[in-house]
Amino acid sequence: VRIDVALLPALLDRVAGSVCVVVDALRATSTIVTLLARGAEEVAVAATVEEARALRAGPMRDRLLCGEVGGLPPEGFDYGNSPAEFSGLDLRGRRVLLATSNGTRALIRAAEAPVVFAGSLLNAGATARAATAAARRQGLDIVFLCAGTELGRAFSLEDAGVCGALVEAVVRDGLGLGGREEARLTDGAAAAYRVWRSYPGARLLFGEASHGQALARLGLAADLDFCARRDLYDVVPRLVPAAEGAPALRPD
Ligand code: MLT
Repeated sequence: VRIDVALLPALLDRVAGSVCVVVDALRATSTIVTLLARGAEEVAVAATVEEARALRAGPMRDRLLCGEVGGLPPEGFDYGNSPAEFSGLDLRGRRVLLATSNGTRALIRAAEAPVVFAGSLLNAGATARAATAAARRQGLDIVFLCAGTELGRAFSLEDAGVCGALVEAVVRDGLGLGGREEARLTDGAAAAYRVWRSYPGARLLFGEASHGQALARLGLAADLDFCARRDLYDVVPRLVPAAEGAPALRPD
């Protein structure tokens, strides 16, 4: 099994033959994991705030509208994009519509892959198991996609590091791949793994990342603490095709 990390959305390759795990550790994929773990039925994803507003005015009228621009809730939205905040809510039965700057775009970009999951540290172990199982079952490779920053055009340290943690979980912990011999790491995957291994913990990684620092300046450091919690949840969000105008994530 070839294990790749696309360090930027533009580097996503061989998507048709791969399980694609999208990672926006701060904060979109951590948010999606948390929303589903708190009982939300599904999280539809829009590429832009304008598109999300139009969907909510039309076919997605009943949805909780969540997302961010510049880290903060856009006008008229019910909530922002704070996993720490969502972790305290009871969302049983709710359906959500989410639009963020990089994470929801990356998920939409990955939609051509036969299997797409949303990964984060919050669900790292479960994601590694689900990706490995799907790859074996369907004879696919695995690519971890960093959502990046600046509308997906710039590298983000936190996504690379968390992808490295997921590579480690898939390879080192075995999980049915039988160790490194059967897992061929690309240079992107090896680089992400090295980034991860160079930090004593995720909180330090997030604190050193420019997006983590920007969130802290907005008073959102609680999200850095929260997103650094490894294996808090077992839920693995999986992308399903658009039914009401936007693709959505549901528990696998
Ligand atoms: C994104 O999609 O760029 C992020 O999730 C931004 C954020 O921290 O809210």
